[in-house]
Amino acid sequence: MKSLLSLADLPRDDLEAVLSRAAALKGAIRARKSVTTLDGRVIGILFEKPSTRTRTSFETATLRLGGSPVYLSAGELQLSRGEPIRDTARILGGYLDAIVARVFSHDTLMQFRESSGVPVVNALSDLEHPTQAVSDLLTIKEAKGRLRGLTMAYIGDGNNVCNSLVLAAALTGIELRVACPAGYEPNGGVLARAKSLGGKGGGRTTVMREPEEAASGADLLYTDVWVSMGDEAEREKRMKDFRGYQVNAALLKLAKRDARVMHCLPAHRGLEITDEVIEGRRSIVWEQGENKLYGAAAVLEWALRGSRGRGR
Ligand code: CP
Ligand code: NVA
Repeated sequence: MKSLLSLADLPRDDLEAVLSRAAALKGAIRARKSVTTLDGRVIGILFEKPSTRTRTSFETATLRLGGSPVYLSAGELQLSRGEPIRDTARILGGYLDAIVARVFSHDTLMQFRESSGVPVVNALSDLEHPTQAVSDLLTIKEAKGRLRGLTMAYIGDGNNVCNSLVLAAALTGIELRVACPAGYEPNGGVLARAKSLGGKGGGRTTVMREPEEAASGADLLYTDVWVSMGDEAEREKRMKDFRGYQVNAALLKLAKRDARVMHCLPAHRGLEITDEVIEGRRSIVWEQGENKLYGAAAVLEWALRGSRGRGR
């Protein structure tokens, strides 16, 4: 059973294969060629939090590959009235061939993986956003022609998106510099996992305080929101703590001349990134957004390959 809860669930070879397949599917889907790899499969798309890109890209990817999505809003399930996660997972696993879920607590995904009997894909948790990292890697490959040896500066919160990038760097040989205020470092367990995964040919992550140090000579600048979903109660404090952690023209000047700027979106212009930079010629943010569709499609194929699904 192949589930994708963490980017580390993708062995290096599988990650390479998923990225190649995503590029191939991009060509096929853009050309409106018929792809039927998910023919007859029913995919549950269960979200506890809002989403524009991830939800729509997984629903669309399922349809483009000949499968059928079923959207489940957590607030409308008996989960919201206290039905245990494990009971919910057992029942849904009997109806569906895979479950794509966006949750507050990563533990919810682990319970779904244990109890549903079908592949589970993490569409964002408090710990990771692995499918974002897959489409980000596809976007970087397109922009730079390679991954190994590139330097990425991640500026801001060491959050779910950052954690998956830490693992992505370890798996692909990207050198990652994370510049964050004290107390906002990437997850310690993820950093340790990345260290053990990195090994030969893998990339390292270095955590630092100064955005300028991270951006200096970098090939890629990446940022994400200062207040993630679920962190709203800390908004005021975070606004103060992250002042100075903005991707703007001055910071971009320190990076390589051909450096590219990334953001998983949604973006807050004037906070973590300026309008000038996100709309500027170095931004590959919109390509990143489109590539979520092809990343989702390749991840669904990967998760379902070899899986009979329930009820078959
Ligand atoms: N990047 C991303 O996950 O966007 P959504 O929250 O719109 O899915
Ligand atoms: N870190 C952000 C990512 C949104 C796609 C959040 O969790 O809200």
